[in-house]
Amino acid sequence: MPLIAAATGGTPSRRPVWFMRQAGRSLPEYRAIRVDRGMLESCFDPELVCEITMQPVRRHDTDAAILFSDIVVPLKAAGVDLDIVPGTGPVIASPIRTAADVAGLPRLEPEAVGAVTAAIGLLIDELPPTVSLIGFAGAPFTLASYLIEGGPSRTYEHTKAMMLGDPELWHALMGRLTDLTIAFLRAQINAGVDAVQLFDSWAGTLSEAAYEAFVAPHSMRVMAEIEQYGVPRIHFGVGTGELLGAMTRIGTDVIGVDWRTPLDVAAERVGRSVAIQGNLDPTALLAGRDVVRGELVRIIAEGERAIAAGTPGHIVNLGHGVLPNTEADAVTHAVELIHTL
Ligand code: CP3
Repeated sequence: MPLIAAATGGTPSRRPVWFMRQAGRSLPEYRAIRVDRGMLESCFDPELVCEITMQPVRRHDTDAAILFSDIVVPLKAAGVDLDIVPGTGPVIASPIRTAADVAGLPRLEPEAVGAVTAAIGLLIDELPPTVSLIGFAGAPFTLASYLIEGGPSRTYEHTKAMMLGDPELWHALMGRLTDLTIAFLRAQINAGVDAVQLFDSWAGTLSEAAYEAFVAPHSMRVMAEIEQYGVPRIHFGVGTGELLGAMTRIGTDVIGVDWRTPLDVAAERVGRSVAIQGNLDPTALLAGRDVVRGELVRIIAEGERAIAAGTPGHIVNLGHGVLPNTEADAVTHAVELIHTL
């Protein structure tokens, strides 16, 4: 598997690529299959999860499939009242703000995500042997931000107010979410995923000092707990140029980099100790083939420079997810270029 080779310092048989949000609204076959079904309902239907996960692999020839799910799926499975609202994202019926709210958070029993593990079983039978299946979970901080805000936020004001103003309550909540994240990742690994990505999508809103004090100990427990299973771990967030060192030190095999930080700079920042993943700006895919080619030539050269200087490997990806308005053909073309350049 080229992706696993790149993640672990081996020599991939071709340059591995997958794209965050490669399954989803950029694909006509996804829009067709989702017309009469809700997002969360779809995430708990193993046949549908398998089909949607396979769609981008068939169409684009990517080196990995990412399980079609969402970071709030384990919260929903545990019994938290929430929905995923089209065009908005996760919305929590009763935001978590008090000690009683935290104490009332349900725990995740592995059987509650049986639909997800069943989907993984179907995918293992269906995926070509060279294509890796990536499982994932939201990191405790990013999950906490949805639970505390009640939905997406620009300022994370309730989240940071709790973090800074009531550290004891904050750490209690983060501890519960760490348990949930570990349980969800363990279930996916036991079901057979080849690698896992921890999405701390919104960690970039924090200073390095705040990240170290309020987030790192919890994410570190997640990574330490799953290390024993031997599947490569990928750690990713948006706008985390200043946090790359801290996010690597919590323990990971691959660090995700967004488009703001050149890959060779990122590699140096993390001491060349882990493989790098990234980092095409998703908007480049809206700007025409010449732009995509130019950006990919640069990114691949930066990755090769990093590898020549000691970085274990490079997995090509975007700096964040495929935007819904992206032409599916633009994605296919980018994958082709990455495999041939
Ligand atoms: O292809 C893949 O990448 C796998 C699928 C995937 C989804 N969500 C499907 C989805 C993954 C990996 C996620 C993770 C996720 N969910 C994250 C971390 C990744 C990131 O983007 O930083 C976050 C922050 C969420 C929360 C969330 N869920 C948001 C912000 C949204 C978008 C809201 C919207 O409609 O624009 C969702 C909904 C969601 N998750 C969709 C998909 C395909 C869109 C729902 C739809 O198609 O109706």
